[in-house]
Parts: sequence; structure tokens; C-alpha cells
Amino acid sequence: MNKFTVNGRAVAIDVPVDTPLLWVIRDEVGLKGTKFGCGIGMCGACTVHVDGRAIRSCITPVGAVEAGAVTTIEGLAPDGRHPLQKAWIAAQAPQCGYCQSGQIMQAATLLKDYPQPTDANIDAVMSGNLCRCMAYIRIRKAIKQAAADIEGASHA
Ligand code: FES
Ligand code: FES
Repeated sequence: MNKFTVNGRAVAIDVPVDTPLLWVIRDEVGLKGTKFGCGIGMCGACTVHVDGRAIRSCITPVGAVEAGAVTTIEGLAPDGRHPLQKAWIAAQAPQCGYCQSGQIMQAATLLKDYPQPTDANIDAVMSGNLCRCMAYIRIRKAIKQAAADIEGASHA
């Protein structure tokens, strides 16, 4: 039995320990916001957090997160109003939307490490998250807006 938490909720999942975390999240836990893109760790569509760090859930065996804390896009902010999510809406970042939950989860890690990210920081951290719709300019804009909003709120 694989035991960990998903968005703060304890789960116990009876699957082989080498089952990709992505399929456990989608098929066992029932959260569909995390997407399958490439399945080989190359696109970022499946990005979630484990203990606060972005990982590729398609290449992470569920056994590797034993007792860990998994956060998906559904749990990034309980009300769906994380500064990144608000900025994403304001910037109209998504096109088809398929890559976007992974983009946002990766960006959340970016802002932890670089609260006021430069273009170079964004390039370095986000370059593994591919967008076939080429929404990169709006994604960059949204990240910077979220950083500014978080900074502004800290001085309010
Ligand atoms: S589906 Fe996981 S990195 Fe592409
Ligand atoms: S918005 Fe379509 S893949 Fe990124």
C-alpha cells in the first residue's frame, strides 16, 4: 500500500510501487488537472509538487513519494486563486490549455526560488515546460505579474 497525501488529504493506494505517480493522481485519486504529454519527462505537462518541489509525475514511481506531500494544480490554492492563477487569467495565458497546469506548477517553484525572476531565471526554470501553442510570451508576462502581486501584497 502506497501512503502519502494529495493536496493535504491522506491517501492509501494499492498499486505496484513502480506505477507512475501521474496515473495514480489521475486514475486512482481522480484528479484530472495533471496532464499526460510525453511520458518521458521531456514536456512538463505532468508537473506536480512533491514536498514543495516541482517534479515530473510521469517518470516518478509512486513508491518514491511514500509518506510525501503531493500537490496538484487542484491544491495549489484551495480556492483556485493563487497569485499565479489570477495572473494567468489576467494575461489570458492559455491557448488550448493542455500544458498550463504543468506550467503553473513549475512557475510556483520558480517564484519560491526567485521571488522577482529575471527573464534568464524564467528561461532557466521554465524551459522544460513545452507549449505547443507557443504561449510563452503570455506565460512570461503572467509570471512577472504574479511576482509583482506577491511582492505588493507583502508590503500591504
Ligand atoms: S508527460 Fe511528463 S514530462 Fe511530459
Ligand atoms: S496552451 Fe496549448 S499547449 Fe500550451
